[in-house]
Amino acid sequence: MSELTAFAQLAFTLIVGLYFLTRLRADSAGEKGVKEEAKAAAEQLNRLRQIHLNEPMTEISRPASSSDIIGQDDGVRALRAALWGEDPQHVLIYGPPGVGKTAAARIVLKEVCKSPGSPFADDAAFFEADAAIMRCDERGFADPLIGSVHDPIYQGAGAYGAAGIPQPKPGAVTKAHGGVLFLDEIGELPNEQINRLLKVLEDRRVMFESSYYSSNNKKIPPYIHDVFRNGMPADFRLIGATTRKPEEIPEAVRSRCVEIYFDPLSRQNVVRIVAGAAARCGITIENGVKELIADYAANGRDAVKILQSALNIARMDGRCFIGLDDARWVIKAGRYAKRSEPFLKENEKIIDISMFKKRG
Ligand SMILES: Nc1ncnc2c1ncn2[C@@H]1O[C@H](COP(=O)(O)OP(=O)(O)OP(=O)(O)O)[C@@H](O)[C@H]1O
Ligand SMILES: [Mg+2]
Repeated sequence: MSELTAFAQLAFTLIVGLYFLTRLRADSAGEKGVKEEAKAAAEQLNRLRQIHLNEPMTEISRPASSSDIIGQDDGVRALRAALWGEDPQHVLIYGPPGVGKTAAARIVLKEVCKSPGSPFADDAAFFEADAAIMRCDERGFADPLIGSVHDPIYQGAGAYGAAGIPQPKPGAVTKAHGGVLFLDEIGELPNEQINRLLKVLEDRRVMFESSYYSSNNKKIPPYIHDVFRNGMPADFRLIGATTRKPEEIPEAVRSRCVEIYFDPLSRQNVVRIVAGAAARCGITIENGVKELIADYAANGRDAVKILQSALNIARMDGRCFIGLDDARWVIKAGRYAKRSEPFLKENEKIIDISMFKKRG
């Protein structure tokens, strides 16, 4: 009997030993696999980082100071005033596409952070987001605008998921903390997200909830307890931009913002934009190229695009100056339509009456 027991004990010990040996091998094989994959991924990442394209002309030609923003004197002045000094305000910029709304906002923040008492630091964030891609999924699992909690059930086998720890993820409002959240096409945001955004503007922080959160859970790191207790910082000024008309923007947003209008650009303004962009890029252009581009470019962005394409055409021929024929070819190939408005004099504006209809 005792022999039988000893045999059973031996067999049991062997089975258990084998089990743990197999687990150990599987674990170390898994660990080796993860390490090898991570090493290959890191090498690929480094290879990608070695590759650089030249800085695109659209970047180099960007206006560098507010005096480089052409034809928007009132708009730029109003923007500076809204963000100036101790108590900057939220802003809504109306205007057609490609007339300098984003470029002006970026420059004006750099300038006003030097104004007396400004709460913006010299390196204050300018976080640019497009409302059209900021839409959260309906269940709110991921909200790139406001932020969201990754619950363990969706984290899979990661360390936090395995330990059952909910992870708060910052949204654009936190990335803009201390600076400006520039929200392009704010009119595209669904009402529900607008309401959440307005709440954040009021609270200046984002509060999170999760059914996986317990204040007694000792496994949860202190910083996550802190976020659930005190919220994620989100103290910023909003600059919303839109190509829509004022009456299409929710009143709740309009009433919290200073409303600023950017004008459509006259042909003469576009001539100056082409001249400025060419100078910033160090490009030589034949007489008449600026005027020709201005006949066909509907806005500043189009103008810079035509200039860039014409430069590439010239470079293909081994030239480093843009001739009239280069610009003509780009305009023809790109099927740009000629401007219909009459030639406007310096400082004369094209007034699109519909843009300026005020409330009430
Ligand atoms: N008024 C302007 N003065 C100087 N450059 C301009 C002006 N408008 C546009 N540009 C040129 O066109 C580029 C694009 O302009 P920007 O992105 O500021 O337009 P936007 O009004 O924000 O357009 P969208 O509504 O499509 O976002 C700028 O980087 C600049 O090179
Ligand atoms: Mg823009």
